[in-house]
Amino acid sequence: MKTNWVERLWIDGPWRIPFQVNAIRSFKRLHDMAPPRRVLEIGCGRGVGARLILEAFRPERLEAVDIDPAMIRRARRRLAPELGSRLVFQVADAEALPFPDRSMDAVFNFGIMHHLEDWNRGVREIARMLKPEGVFYFEEFYPALYAGPVFKHVLVHPRENRFDGPQFRSALEGEGLRLVEGYRETRYSIIGAATRLASGG
Ligand SMILES: C[S@@+](CC[C@H](N)C(=O)[O-])C[C@H]1O[C@@H](n2cnc3c(N)ncnc32)[C@H](O)[C@@H]1O
Repeated sequence: MKTNWVERLWIDGPWRIPFQVNAIRSFKRLHDMAPPRRVLEIGCGRGVGARLILEAFRPERLEAVDIDPAMIRRARRRLAPELGSRLVFQVADAEALPFPDRSMDAVFNFGIMHHLEDWNRGVREIARMLKPEGVFYFEEFYPALYAGPVFKHVLVHPRENRFDGPQFRSALEGEGLRLVEGYRETRYSIIGAATRLASGG
């Protein structure tokens, strides 16, 4: 589900950037990797996360997708010099991604799973695309934050079938994604990493 103008004030402002910087540092701390061949960012928004991924993980190729064509246009403008074989932005739905099975060394999620109508399907897609021992890096938010007494009136998110911490972590495990020790979770959010079991799927 696309963001509304209130949420865009938050995610498109300078105040969002330190949170993404904090997340990428946590990702590196939780599970660093040699420069990967191919990685994916889902729900890339205006492209801040894509730049951080390029700098921190140095992938040979980063695919970054968002369901909102306006976001993809902004991301392409922001990272114009980097576009090419190393970085590709495209419009795509995180619930039905146009990439083959076991094609990604890592998938990055800066706060988008809670925007999916069917978030379990999103988790399945991530597990499907990860290579064995590939890594899912995530910063994610729970209803205690975005559906709390104030935010539920001003933000637009799917209302049905939401997930809290235990449900999110259990869905990852159910798809063969094993949580890396050291993830940080509160009742509002989680920052973590999970590796695809070598024997999975
Ligand atoms: C809360 S914003 C986060 C944007 C950016 N990742 C950040 O951290 O600032 C959620 C983003 O996910 C995108 N989005 C929502 N539903 C999506 C879907 N089904 N597939 C891909 N992107 C989606 C929205 O358009 C928006 O850019």
